Amino acid sequence: MRIAFANDHAAVAMRQPLLEELAALGHEVLDLGARDESRTDYPDFARAVGDALHRGQADRGIVVCGTGVGICIAANKLRGIRCALVTDEYAAVMSRRHNDANVLALRGREFDPDLNRKLLRRWLETPFDGDERHQRRIDKIARLEELNE
Ligand code: RB5
Repeated sequence: MRIAFANDHAAVAMRQPLLEELAALGHEVLDLGARDESRTDYPDFARAVGDALHRGQADRGIVVCGTGVGICIAANKLRGIRCALVTDEYAAVMSRRHNDANVLALRGREFDPDLNRKLLRRWLETPFDGDERHQRRIDKIARLEELNE
């Protein structure tokens, strides 16, 4: 799969384990993340990943900030993006099965890198269930975007 990946300065330490995991799984990575801890603004990285998806340069996105919260909020402002903040395995699986999440937000600070690797793996390998009721709800989410136009 083609994955757009980005982290802010607070998640620089989490880059290597996640990028290693993506490489080990054989994914093609477009790395748009911060490389050092000079202060940055997480919405810029959410936007970079969203742009990559909109341009068709990537199939899925991974975004990482200190908590995972801010970058997830920002990503969900972008058209067609369904970003899930995942800190446990159940959410990793269900955000794919039921929500067809196309962007994964992970926590970069004070979090076990091995657990993040596992969450990343589970999220990437889990397909969307595709049931009518799940698709109907996703379509309703898409229509919420139109309310803001
Ligand atoms: C940056 O200090 C931090 O606020 C950011 O990485 C993130 O945790 C925001 O939600």
